[in-house]
Amino acid sequence: MTPTLRELIRERVEKLNSIPTVPAIIRPLLFYLERPVDQVDVQRIVDLVSCDESISAQCLRVANSALYFRSREVKSVHGAIVVLGVRQVREILLSCSLLNLLPKESWVIDPLVFWEHSLGCGLVSRFCARKTRFKEPERAYLAGLLHDLGELINMMSFQEEFRAAAQLARSERIPLHQAERSALGFTHCDTGKILAEHWRLPEDIAEVVEHHHDVQQAKLHPVLVALVSLSDRLCQVHELGYGINESPDWKLEEDPSWAVLTREYPIVAKTDPARFLLDMEEFVTEARKLVRSILRT
Ligand SMILES: [Fe+2]
Ligand SMILES: [Fe+2]
Repeated sequence: MTPTLRELIRERVEKLNSIPTVPAIIRPLLFYLERPVDQVDVQRIVDLVSCDESISAQCLRVANSALYFRSREVKSVHGAIVVLGVRQVREILLSCSLLNLLPKESWVIDPLVFWEHSLGCGLVSRFCARKTRFKEPERAYLAGLLHDLGELINMMSFQEEFRAAAQLARSERIPLHQAERSALGFTHCDTGKILAEHWRLPEDIAEVVEHHHDVQQAKLHPVLVALVSLSDRLCQVHELGYGINESPDWKLEEDPSWAVLTREYPIVAKTDPARFLLDMEEFVTEARKLVRSILRT
C-alpha cells in the first residue's frame, strides 16, 4: 500500500462518526475476557443486560429457544443468564451491539451473514485454540470475532468500490480479498489494520486483522494468526462464510496455518488431519446453529 493510499484510508477512518461506540463495548469485554469465568460478577452482568431492552429480550429469546430444552419458560434476565451462562451472554451482548453498528443502507454483505461469520469465527477459533492447547483461548475468540473488521470500513467508506469488489469475487470466483485488491487497490486487511491502530486495539489482535489472509507475514503472534486464519477458512468451507467462493479445493495439509500449528505444537503434529477436520466440521455445525439462534431468533 502506498503512503498516499494509507493517508486516504486513515482520513476516512477518522471521519467515521457512527463507529465510536464500538471501542466502548470492546474495552470492558477485553477486561472480562481476561478474567476466569468464575470470577465474573453475575449480578454486574444482570445489571448491564437489564439496562438495554433489546439485549434483555434477546437473552430471553435465546434462553427460551429450542437449543436449551427448557420445560418452563424463563421470564427474568437473571433466569436467562443462569440458563445461558456468562460466556454466552457475553456473546449476545457483543453481537447485539455490533449488529447495530452500521446504518442499514451501508451494507454490501448482509449484516446477519457478516456477524454470523464473525461470531462463528470467534467460536471456532476458541475451540481450535483449546484443541491445540494454545494458552489463551479467549484471546483467540476475540481475535476471531474481530478479524474482518476492515470490511466495515470498506462497506462504509468505499461502498461503491467494495460493491464492485464483491461482484468481481463472485464473477471471477476469486477470494474477496483478492477482488478488493483489484477493485480498490487495498484489502480489508489494510483498512482493518488502520482501524485497529485508530482504536488502539492490542497488538496481537491487530496482527490477526492485518495478516489473517497471509499467515507467513505474521512475525509477532504467528500462532494466533494461524488459529484465526484456519478457523476463518473452516467457517467458509462449512457454510459460515459470506457465501462468496467458499474454497471448494482447499486442503488442510497445504494451508500455511496448519504448517505453523504443526511446527509449534507437538500435539497437532501428531494429529491425523482427517480426524482433525471431522472434529472441526462437527464443531462448526454446532457453532452455526448457535450463532443463528443468537442472531436470528
Ligand atoms: Fe478476511
Ligand atoms: Fe473472514
